[in-house]
Amino acid sequence: MLASAPGKVIISGEHSVVYGKHAIVTAINLRCYVNVRKANRVKITSELGETGIDFEVHPYVSWAIKLMEKRVGKNLTPEIIIKSDLPVASGLGSSAAVTVATVYALCKEYELEFELEDVYEIAKEVELEVQGKASGIDPFVSTYGGSWLMPEKERFNFDSEILLVDTEEKGVTAEMVRRVYDLRKKYPELVDEIFDVMDIITLKIKEALESKDYESIFELFRMNQSMLKAIGVSTEKIDKITSKLERLGYPAKITGAGGGGCVLSINPGKSKKLEEFKVISTIPETEGVREEVVQ
Ligand code: MEV
Repeated sequence: MLASAPGKVIISGEHSVVYGKHAIVTAINLRCYVNVRKANRVKITSELGETGIDFEVHPYVSWAIKLMEKRVGKNLTPEIIIKSDLPVASGLGSSAAVTVATVYALCKEYELEFELEDVYEIAKEVELEVQGKASGIDPFVSTYGGSWLMPEKERFNFDSEILLVDTEEKGVTAEMVRRVYDLRKKYPELVDEIFDVMDIITLKIKEALESKDYESIFELFRMNQSMLKAIGVSTEKIDKITSKLERLGYPAKITGAGGGGCVLSINPGKSKKLEEFKVISTIPETEGVREEVVQ
């Protein structure tokens, strides 16, 4: 049984969403493919290596199997092969996509009765086990596809080209979430003020996206990036890339947990070339997790 689930970009609201603030998130047309087959023992194969249940190398898939076993009350021993368009630890939701596609494929392969809501709930539990703290927006958008204002789960239309510049630094979500948690513990009033500002910015970005007001998107991304820098999730390389993109007239900010990963821009229809960057061009994806035909 082959399933695929899309990656995502957070357009605004990363980190503050973990503390109940708004976020705008969209699925993108890069997918993770998971092939699940009943077998006698667990074997997980990906670009990270070949393992059995292994919470170090394949934490998300291992937890997905464990939590599914708990739900169905029996041992599951699948062979799982993972292939992905999504670079790992780049803020593009590869962990959520692999988790959602695995849970979906396990449900189908073992002929379990389930709704999409169950897939989302299990994937969210997996994320919590691995990250300790999580908003659940990554598995949500990977399950359902589309563009959303969270936590309202209000779907909206968004079709601009999304440009991603990979910093080629790896940002580990669990570490970044922990860093923000520690900072907030030390300076609760200050960090909560920053989250409130991020909340206002996020709602304004949604308005600007819907009216394709690129000048406002540019200004709001710049403010948003400053807030992300203030909570310590930017890096020297991210700062450099965002400044260069801004100089060329492109809005730019971190997407996802930060600490590396990708810088996000929305194409404002500029003709200026971005030759000096390795740009990944994506578009919003309306479809979430789905079964694929094995070729
Ligand atoms: C990670 O893609 C987004 C964070 O806001 C964490 C989360 O929402 O769980 C950093």
